[in-house]
Amino acid sequence: MADWTKEHILAHILTLKDRSTPEKVEQFFDDLAPNYDKIVVTAGYFGPSVTSTLLQKYVTSKEARLMDIASGTGLVGECLANSGYTNIDAVDGSALSIEEARKKNVYTNLYVQWLGGDNKLNIENDTYDAIVCTGAFAFNQLKSDVFPDLIRVTKPGGYILINMRTQWLELEASYAEGKLEGDMVKLENDGKWKLVEKHDHEADDSALNLVTFIHKVC
Ligand SMILES: C[S@@+](CC[C@H](N)C(=O)[O-])C[C@H]1O[C@@H](n2cnc3c(N)ncnc32)[C@H](O)[C@@H]1O
Repeated sequence: MADWTKEHILAHILTLKDRSTPEKVEQFFDDLAPNYDKIVVTAGYFGPSVTSTLLQKYVTSKEARLMDIASGTGLVGECLANSGYTNIDAVDGSALSIEEARKKNVYTNLYVQWLGGDNKLNIENDTYDAIVCTGAFAFNQLKSDVFPDLIRVTKPGGYILINMRTQWLELEASYAEGKLEGDMVKLENDGKWKLVEKHDHEADDSALNLVTFIHKVC
């Protein structure tokens, strides 16, 4: 697997479309976990560094309490730690990815949990100064039903940064035709959060373009 080409990796990621249960998605990422860090470099993935750069515009205290939602093997935590953040928690549905993340020694608390539906974070209200989520709004992964729980655990005035591949906004059926962004707007209209930035990041290969939504919690 470590010798896969970029095309092979991107094609493999598309097979997530057929993994319609949490167990199948967890298995996919458990299988990738030992090689994930190497293969995403080959695939030209730069999500974690974009997340870290954008977060620094909004969260200036390096002691801020952060949660890395769907942390995977901890590449985002590593970027955040390299930027000076010292208080980062992680949650992911893939136990083997969390094991890899633990080895990086950049997280305070790590949780294995699939999020969505009735699965809520076992975290008190108003705990975090910011939440980041990178690369997990994609085929059969996080859905807009997690937004209320993310808002619940974020302090009023805190930030929720969601960074995803732009193409999933159309390719994932539950986000398509403006549904994901529409659900964000509904929460804004209900006074739960406010969009402070929508950032487009263009890659050499347009399939890897990223969009980042940064909301401030009310
Ligand atoms: C493409 S990886 C991204 C990992 C990391 N954030 C990064 O940028 O390298 C997606 C991760 O999201 C996790 N994930 C996807 N859907 C999830 C869900 N509903 N609940 C918890 N974890 C989920 C997967 O297990 C996987 O580790």
